[in-house]
Amino acid sequence: MNTLTVSLAERSYPIYIGAKLIDQTELFHRHIASSQVMVVSNDTVAPLYLARILANLSGKQVATAILPDGESYKSMDSAMAIFDQLLAHKFSRNATLLALGGGVIGDLAGFAAACYQRGIPFIQIPTTLLAQVDSSVGGKTAVNHPGGKNMIGAFYQPQCVIADTSVLDTLADRELSAGIAEVIKYGLIRDCSFFDWLEHNIDALLRREPEALAYAIERSCINKAEVVAADERETGERATLNLGHTFGHAIETGMGYGVCLHGEAVAIGMCQAAELSRRLGYLNDGDVNRIEAILLRAKLPIQPPAELDTARFLELMAVDKKNLDGKLRLILLEQIGRASLPLEVDLQTLQATLREYGRR
Ligand code: NAD
Ligand code: GLY
Repeated sequence: MNTLTVSLAERSYPIYIGAKLIDQTELFHRHIASSQVMVVSNDTVAPLYLARILANLSGKQVATAILPDGESYKSMDSAMAIFDQLLAHKFSRNATLLALGGGVIGDLAGFAAACYQRGIPFIQIPTTLLAQVDSSVGGKTAVNHPGGKNMIGAFYQPQCVIADTSVLDTLADRELSAGIAEVIKYGLIRDCSFFDWLEHNIDALLRREPEALAYAIERSCINKAEVVAADERETGERATLNLGHTFGHAIETGMGYGVCLHGEAVAIGMCQAAELSRRLGYLNDGDVNRIEAILLRAKLPIQPPAELDTARFLELMAVDKKNLDGKLRLILLEQIGRASLPLEVDLQTLQATLREYGRR
C-alpha cells in the first residue's frame, strides 16, 4: 500500500492506494470514530462491493442508501434521499458517511455529508479510475442543476481516501478510458515527463497491467494533492485542473447528463482547448497532434458532438464557475506540461475554434 497526504493543516488527510484495501478492516477503524455509519452507493457498485465494506463495520450501527446509477441522479433529489435515510435512522452529527462508488456517488455523498447537520465526517472509497485519480481527492462536492454541471456544491474534505486498485477489475472498458482522460490531463497541465511516460504506457493501462495502473494512479494523486494543497479553494492554480472542462461541461449539459461520459467530454474539451491554444499562438501543430493521438489511442472521442453548434456551446459555456463578472475565462495550454491560469480569450478566435475544430 502507498500512502500520500493531502496537506491542508488541520484538514489534512491520507490517500491510501493499493490492492484489496477494502478488506483492510483496520483502515476503516482508524478513520471512523463514531458508532453510526451510513454507506452511500449505487445499484451497480453495491452488489459488487457493499458486503465487503459492511464486513469491516461489525459492532457499528450501519445504514445504507443505495441510489440508482447514473450522472442524471447526481441531483438534489438524490441528496434528499440520503438526508431522508440519515434522519430515518436518527443519525447524529458525528455519524460517518462512506461514499462507495465513482465520481457521481463521491460528489453526491460528499455534498450530503457537507450539508447534513452542517457537516458530518465522510470517507471516499472511489471505485472508478476517474474517481481514484481525481474526484475523490480535493474536497469538491456537488450535485448538478438542469442548467449546469456541479452548480450546487461545497468544498468539504474527506477523512481519508481508500483507493483499492483491485476493484477496477470490474470496470467497463469505456469507463477505464474515461478515467485515463483525467490522467492525461495531469501530464498536460503540469507534468511533462508523466505525459511522456503515458505516451509509452497507454497500451499497458488499457490492458490494465497492475503496475502501470498503480503508477498512473499514484502519480495523478501526487499531482492533484500538490495542487489542492497549494490552492484548496481555487483562487489560482487549482483552476488548471479544469483544462477542457468548460467545453466538456457544456457538452455534458447540452447533450443531457450521462449521454457523454464526463471523461469523454473532458477529452473532447481538452482537444478544443489545445486547438484554441494553437490558434492563439501557444501550441504548434505537432503539440495538438500529440494530444489528439494519445487521446485516440486511449479510445477516447476527440470530436465535439454535431448537435451542439457554436451559439449553443457559447450559451452553455457562459454557465461556468471560472467566469467572473459575466466574462468567459478559459484554461489554455502554454506548452505540453504547462497550463495557463484562467484567461479571457478573444471571442472571435473562440468562435472560430468552436465552428471549425472537429467539424471536418
Ligand atoms: P460514475 O460515478 O458514473 O461511474 C461510472 C460507471 O461505473 C457507473 O455506471 C458506476 O456505477 C460504474 N462503476 C463504478 N465503479 C465500478 C466498478 N468498480 N466496477 C464496475 N462498475 C463500476 O462516473 P465517474 O467517471 O467515476 O465520475 C464522473 C463524475 O465525477 C462526474 O459527475 C464528474 O462531474 C465528477 N468529477 C468530480 C471531480 C471532483 O473534483 N469532485 C473531478 C472529476 C470528476
Ligand atoms: N477536478 C477539478 C478539481 O478538483 O479542482
